[in-house]
Amino acid sequence: MPRKIIIDTDPGQDDAVAILLALASPELEVLGIVAVAGNVGLHHNANNALKIAELAGRADVPVFAGCARPMRRTLVTAEHVHGDTGLNGPDLPQPKTALQAQHGVDYIIDTLMAAEPKSITLCTLGPLTNIGMALVKQPAIAERIAEIVMMGGGYFEAGNITPAAEFNIYVDPEAADLVMRCGAPITMMTLDVTHQIQSTPERLNAIRAIGNKSGTAVYEMLTFSESFDLKKYGWDGAPLHDPTVIAYLLRPELFDGRLCNVTIETASELTVGMTVADYWHVTDRPRNVNYMRNGNAVGFYALLLERLALLP
Ligand code: RIB
Ligand code: CA
Repeated sequence: MPRKIIIDTDPGQDDAVAILLALASPELEVLGIVAVAGNVGLHHNANNALKIAELAGRADVPVFAGCARPMRRTLVTAEHVHGDTGLNGPDLPQPKTALQAQHGVDYIIDTLMAAEPKSITLCTLGPLTNIGMALVKQPAIAERIAEIVMMGGGYFEAGNITPAAEFNIYVDPEAADLVMRCGAPITMMTLDVTHQIQSTPERLNAIRAIGNKSGTAVYEMLTFSESFDLKKYGWDGAPLHDPTVIAYLLRPELFDGRLCNVTIETASELTVGMTVADYWHVTDRPRNVNYMRNGNAVGFYALLLERLALLP
């Protein structure tokens, strides 16, 4: 029985790779894709989600637009990494399918409330605004979520948009705070993991060598979005973030970490958006997050290559 998932996302080249990996994997049933403002504005993110579903030959997967800005703060975007459209790199055709009319937050609420409790996993690849708003509008969803598997945060690698904060949390720390406290099981794929999952030239060339449309598009996406990080970190490859969420669902044994408390800084302007992880259990704060610290890059890229080859 495939695992039912809803993907909440701000595509974003790395989001796109995560969505493709999910759509290529028979172990997963992607019920819907919900766009959120983050990497770039909501309009582009939603349009990109439609493009990616069509690239995978899956125009049947409904795509929704969620929130256009964070719960409290002004939207911070990352065109400097992802380009003006958020999906610079490949020249993908404008989508033929339209967005669903329902708001993405209402789709998340209605789907969770109608489904068997604990039967749907939320995979979040961007700021947590949609999930935060869904929890405010219908708190009852918290005990109906099977698991939230999210890309966000960092402790040993600290931050990427500020010295203290990772981008997804930084954009909407209030939403992240709500999610951390909601009681649903949370697995956090952090910068500590994604900085180990580097898209080196040989890995990108292997993706291009698959020779299908999806492999070529992924190559063009990542060779565009990597340039900012290669300059910043000076590594052989840029970190690959969002696909680790899907890889965790498919091959959890590729990752390791521990249950610990994660609390979000929402007050200090210096460290706002920081995921304060009590990894060494020095407090008695509730252990609310399955915090992933390490990832097996060789196994991850073998999985990604294998699955991308199954796509058009
Ligand atoms: O910090 C990395 C995260 O921010 C990824 O989800 C990337 O897509 C951006 O949204
Ligand atoms: Ca993202």
